[in-house]
Amino acid sequence: MNVKIYKDAKSIGEAAATIFAAQVIAKPDSVLGLATGSSPIPTYSRMIEMYKEGIVDFSKVTTFNLDEYISLGHDHPQSYYYFMQENLFKGINVPVENIHVPSGTAEDIDAEGKHYDEMIANAGGIDVQILGIGNNGHIAFNEPCDNFPMGTHKVALTESTIEANTRFFENSDEVPRWAISMGIGSIMKARKIILVATGSAKADAVYGMVKGPVTPECPASILQMHPDVTVFADEAAAAKL
Ligand code: GLP
Repeated sequence: MNVKIYKDAKSIGEAAATIFAAQVIAKPDSVLGLATGSSPIPTYSRMIEMYKEGIVDFSKVTTFNLDEYISLGHDHPQSYYYFMQENLFKGINVPVENIHVPSGTAEDIDAEGKHYDEMIANAGGIDVQILGIGNNGHIAFNEPCDNFPMGTHKVALTESTIEANTRFFENSDEVPRWAISMGIGSIMKARKIILVATGSAKADAVYGMVKGPVTPECPASILQMHPDVTVFADEAAAAKL
């Protein structure tokens, strides 16, 4: 696992956006795996700048997001679909029909998960996947548990994640208790993975991911088994390495 330490979130965003841009310049119809949370925001801001500067054209790109809250529709301000519109898609030119976020309002979430994995496979698989990491070592919404889930599936959020995500809602009661998330298997199939982590709250999770045992109790630790992972961290997030 390759770990790169940067001075701040902006420099991490610059580096991660450059990887996406290089990928799309080399292969204009790339399939990009995208994430929500505050960690990828500087990456998305830089991708928007690069598009506006004419450095990169996203018109042939297809995207797949990691996860979505169950019960929140596209127009809910806390839905991950809405987040992606606000923080990336309204600033670049990915055609709307090429944008995929798992549906949190599908009647049959199991069928939606299966369909989502089929769509990723039919698109040729993910070329580059960006990830954040939860304070408890989760990636996407794969929470610490006793196995590594394979495909896109329904998950119950842990108290730690509900607490961490309460900052985006009026209060903790408003945070959905369930989500639909790409599985560890879906994520591990990506050909290249970049993980961005900033701040001291991530230090234990980053340590577990990079130096701890490979265990579903720290879902991100599975990334040690992937052949092409780069972690972009600031000094606070990398402090325990
Ligand atoms: C959420 C998302 C994850 C994200 C994590 C960390 O729970 N499902 O994909 O990595 O939060 O978010 P942040 O980057 O805001 O710390």
